[in-house]
Amino acid sequence: MTKPKILSTRPLFPAARAVLEQRFEVDYWTPAERITREELLKRVADKEGLVCLLTEKVDEELLGRAPKLRIAATVSVGYDNIDVAACTRHKVVATHTPGVLDHTTADFAWTLLMAIARRLLEGDAWMRSGTWPGWDLDQLVGGDVWGKTLGVLGFGRIGRGVARRALGFEMKVLYSDAVRAPEEVERELHAEFVDRDRLFRESDFISLHVPLLPDTRHLISHENLDKMKRTAFLVNTSRGPVVDEAALAEALENRKIAGAALDVYEHEPLVHPALLSRRDVILAPHIASASLDTRTKMAVMAANNVVAIFDGRRPPNSLNADPLGLK
Ligand code: GLV
Repeated sequence: MTKPKILSTRPLFPAARAVLEQRFEVDYWTPAERITREELLKRVADKEGLVCLLTEKVDEELLGRAPKLRIAATVSVGYDNIDVAACTRHKVVATHTPGVLDHTTADFAWTLLMAIARRLLEGDAWMRSGTWPGWDLDQLVGGDVWGKTLGVLGFGRIGRGVARRALGFEMKVLYSDAVRAPEEVERELHAEFVDRDRLFRESDFISLHVPLLPDTRHLISHENLDKMKRTAFLVNTSRGPVVDEAALAEALENRKIAGAALDVYEHEPLVHPALLSRRDVILAPHIASASLDTRTKMAVMAANNVVAIFDGRRPPNSLNADPLGLK
């Protein structure tokens, strides 16, 4: 019996390949350079399944070119690369990988937060330059973390994970979200629900954990940066366009905030040129979920979603199972 054909835009990890290869004839994109849009459209044309990354857009055009497609499985929790409504129109199930990366991403938000507050990368660069003259009283004095106020924007699984870690630092935690968390969660995490305005004004650290939506695009704007404390730091492990990078660069230049640590960018893989030379900015290459265990789990999860569809089951992480009437 011939196996259904699927396309994977990356070779994935062995554990995910094992899941896929039992059931499918898999066309892996293996070159080091990422797949071009043209190549993607060409290769997906005869496929019944697609495993893709957040850098690949699944939109009306792609769906129109892939008449046999039954599932598009992105190996990411964020799914702003997928036009879910278009998938539903084309009767294609869209899936993502929630849950498995929460701890790893929350750990990394903290990595950035600590590193920017305590000027770790400036210190590292100094040591490597061979010019450090030895200890002195006022060298690289940064901001304290312990006992400060953390503002968590977006209080889903990852935002809550970041808040939970703040308990160890005896921080005051403020959060803002479209929906208020249950009382027991607020109690457990010592987190106070506030409006965005108060969060901007009172936080010493603001960590972003919102999805990219029309309402969150450029949430970090001139106006909101102006509300922040001059001593405050911004951490972004969510999606780049949540921050207006030009506004951020200007705020840093005018010392309106103390620093920013970014893992994601408005126009990836580009970074606003004004941020590149700043010492009060840390730039990470979108690696918040990049532990081997977690990235493997994400790939396996995507593979299992694809298998489910061909087994006649509802994929566990579907974004449009209900509109498609999947049981
Ligand atoms: C990474 O950014 C993800 O959405 O998984």
